[in-house]
Amino acid sequence: MSVIRPKPPEDPIQYDPSAVFAAGTVSRPKLDALAAPLDAARTESLADLDRWRGGGAKAGEALDPAFIDLPERLLADYNTKRPESELFAILQAARRIRDAVDRVVVLGIGGSYMGTRALFEACCHPFHNELPRGERGGRPRLSFEGFNMDNDSAQGLLDLVAPHGKPRGDDLLDRWAALVVSKSGGTLETAVATRLFLATLLNAVGGDVRRLAEVVVPVTGKTGRLADLAKAIGCPEVFDIPDGVGGRFSVFTAVGLLPASIVGIDVVRLLEGAAAMNRRFREAPVADNPVLQYVGVCHLAEVDSGATVRVLSAWSNRLEAVGLWYDQLLSESLGKAEKGATPLTAVTTRDLHSRGQQHQDGRRDKLITNLVVGEPRRDRLALPPLGAYAANQDKLDDLVGRTWPDMLAAAFAGTNEAYAGAKRPTADILLPRIDEHVIGQLLQMLMLATVVEGRLVGTNPYGQPGVEDYKQFMMRRLRP
Ligand code: PA5
Repeated sequence: MSVIRPKPPEDPIQYDPSAVFAAGTVSRPKLDALAAPLDAARTESLADLDRWRGGGAKAGEALDPAFIDLPERLLADYNTKRPESELFAILQAARRIRDAVDRVVVLGIGGSYMGTRALFEACCHPFHNELPRGERGGRPRLSFEGFNMDNDSAQGLLDLVAPHGKPRGDDLLDRWAALVVSKSGGTLETAVATRLFLATLLNAVGGDVRRLAEVVVPVTGKTGRLADLAKAIGCPEVFDIPDGVGGRFSVFTAVGLLPASIVGIDVVRLLEGAAAMNRRFREAPVADNPVLQYVGVCHLAEVDSGATVRVLSAWSNRLEAVGLWYDQLLSESLGKAEKGATPLTAVTTRDLHSRGQQHQDGRRDKLITNLVVGEPRRDRLALPPLGAYAANQDKLDDLVGRTWPDMLAAAFAGTNEAYAGAKRPTADILLPRIDEHVIGQLLQMLMLATVVEGRLVGTNPYGQPGVEDYKQFMMRRLRP
């Protein structure tokens, strides 16, 4: 048997806005003329890193640019100081948890869970949680809570981990663990879920706090209520969300990497993909730079053509959670001072049967960016004949043998043709396939684009001061 393993593909993702020019929404010369401001926004975004490292944030300024070079830093440490590196610790903890339990409950909200969900849905089997453990490769199921205060959904998860309020047995298939994720450590939705699931988990381990500590892994800032709680429980492993990395930019910290690794996602390839996007972002001239071209087109479509709604149209079910993660990223970063486009995730063709009418004929306030996938991961399904019991009643015999990717490609081309006919702008982000390297590139591209656009339009992309109001008003009612 050969010991040489084939090198997995590392094809770059591409951005193609040609249909936006053809629709007349953005003109190529205007985009070219924006090169200098885009370049300056890139420089400023990268300079934020130096400013942050030098402690140069202005008084009261939110500044969280440390996500930018995080992938390279994690990989470099892993390659040079392996056992002392953060990534090594994450991989070790993931292995321990994977071997110890059959379900992991992630408790977190916003940036503390949406990235994990995006990675899980994009990179794992679409029915991971439904598969028996053997077919999951011995990886635990992954469930989410603490992202709302929905009584029945919390009860539903309790039904799974403690049916009828009783602990399950102590077999591997009955055991579960909790990852509690909160940068501030004080977010109410996550904190109340933590109490609830800690009580259930303590019951599951027979009231033994030492065993409880082994199946609770907090991921949090250096200080705060969750860090204090972790100390009180005696959790042997507590992962840090580093300073300078904000919640919605934290997918490549332990926030996303630990649960991803637990369910079998190759986190090294994710980081390599992200680092590859960083290289292109730093080095490619504006005209060949996917981040800067994407920002330029979105920005001009908004200011010149009133496209204030940005539809990310995912041509794969597996990318819906990536879209929802991006909705949060864009809204919280740029929705400030009465500015900022409104992001909207669609899954196509599904949503052509719900939103398609409006996108084709409705208000001209949308830029549609297709997230389109080059090749499927699995064997191509082909349309089978109906069988001897019937005689072409469904009138599909002429399509026998056509594959699912064929039909989706026809839908993609047909939809874009229809939009082009009505001068509706569409751009494409072309993903060669959906795997860790590609998803790493994509998430990094979208995070970089968000901060660059902020610098371009003079909006601080970091911090989310507007979210504080609801928290205060809610707490005033809970603690009058
Ligand atoms: O981007 C952000 O910072 C927010 O969306 C947070 O991730 C979210 O509010 C959760 O905060 P925390 O991780 O402190 O519980």
